[in-house]
Amino acid sequence: MKSLFGLLVIFACAYTNAQAQSLSDKHRAFQPGEIWTDTEGVHINAHGGGILFHGGTYYWFGEHKTDGRTGNRAMVGVSCYSSNDLLNWKREGVALAVHEEGSGSDIEKGSVIERPKVIYNEKTGKFVMWFHLELKDQGYNAAKTALATSDHPTGPYEFQKSLRPNPETWPINFKKSWKKKTITEKELEGWSDEWKKEVAEGLFIRRDFQTGQMARDMTLYVDDDGKAYHIYSAEENLTLHIAELTEDYLGFSGKWAVIEPAGHNEAPAVFKKDGKYYLITSGCTGWEPNAARSFVADDLMGPWTSLGNPAVGEGADLTFDSQSTFIVPVQGKKDAFIFMADRWRPENAIDGRYVWLPIQMKDGRPVLEWQDKWDFSYFDK
Ligand code: GAL
Repeated sequence: MKSLFGLLVIFACAYTNAQAQSLSDKHRAFQPGEIWTDTEGVHINAHGGGILFHGGTYYWFGEHKTDGRTGNRAMVGVSCYSSNDLLNWKREGVALAVHEEGSGSDIEKGSVIERPKVIYNEKTGKFVMWFHLELKDQGYNAAKTALATSDHPTGPYEFQKSLRPNPETWPINFKKSWKKKTITEKELEGWSDEWKKEVAEGLFIRRDFQTGQMARDMTLYVDDDGKAYHIYSAEENLTLHIAELTEDYLGFSGKWAVIEPAGHNEAPAVFKKDGKYYLITSGCTGWEPNAARSFVADDLMGPWTSLGNPAVGEGADLTFDSQSTFIVPVQGKKDAFIFMADRWRPENAIDGRYVWLPIQMKDGRPVLEWQDKWDFSYFDK
């Protein structure tokens, strides 16, 4: 009897200690590039992610990576975490699960599912997830976008379809004479000035006119009027496209525009401040980091003006060893935006790190400065 009481006391103490431990373990600051544990102490697994704010809660969706180099393929699916403060994240599980290997499904295990983003449609009450999809064993050739829907923010999401955006429609900012050009890739020397000029004048848009445009790195943006936009790297990653979605967010309306023709931009992320839209992107060097770029526009459909590399200080030329994925507006704080980026670890994908930095505005430009550690008081300065 005595020993049973002793055991109970030991368990009770252990439990209280664990509680105390978890309280003191609560994250109180962002530490870019460090291991970022969820509420169970496990490194967050939501790469190339994006945030949805819904019903007072933030939801973080991202690629669930696994060990090793193959861990960049979709072996599990899209993860979801929830948080009330953007610092402490509870794992909600797999929001979109890959389909069984050999099933022939577009999202079968071993396909590539990247940069998932979720938006909520007020009219239909559906949560809509769009992502970049590459079909199994086809490298990055499919260059498709795909979507899944759910009645709940955390899922499960049901795969709907994969597609190439906007077949047989021209961008709104495209000259009539370019539609009729007949020059093809074969007649041009790759990367020559003439080739670049032809890319900017629709070489690949015409090539992909029937099939729909290529769509790789992507983000989604919902404007104040409820209209949603899909921004993706198209034309062999040479040009970004911005395409308006239909009212239900389940397809493309047919209205689209090119951004920075032949500018070679990837990893798009958008925010809006004082009626202006800002876009942060990366260059195209695969998993290796490069210098970020930024742009501003009065209208999402453009024209966009280049503002240069938003990163400043040591490490700016490689965006502090990271690549953009999303920009989070902090709820309840005016003009507080967080730049969300990935520090990829291609040789061990699951070990990829997150680099979240506060965005400062200086002379109408977004500016990113490295911080070892920072918290929300940064925005009160
Ligand atoms: C990057 C891209 C990532 C992933 C990677 C594959 O440029 O941003 O999302 O596609 O290439 O090499």
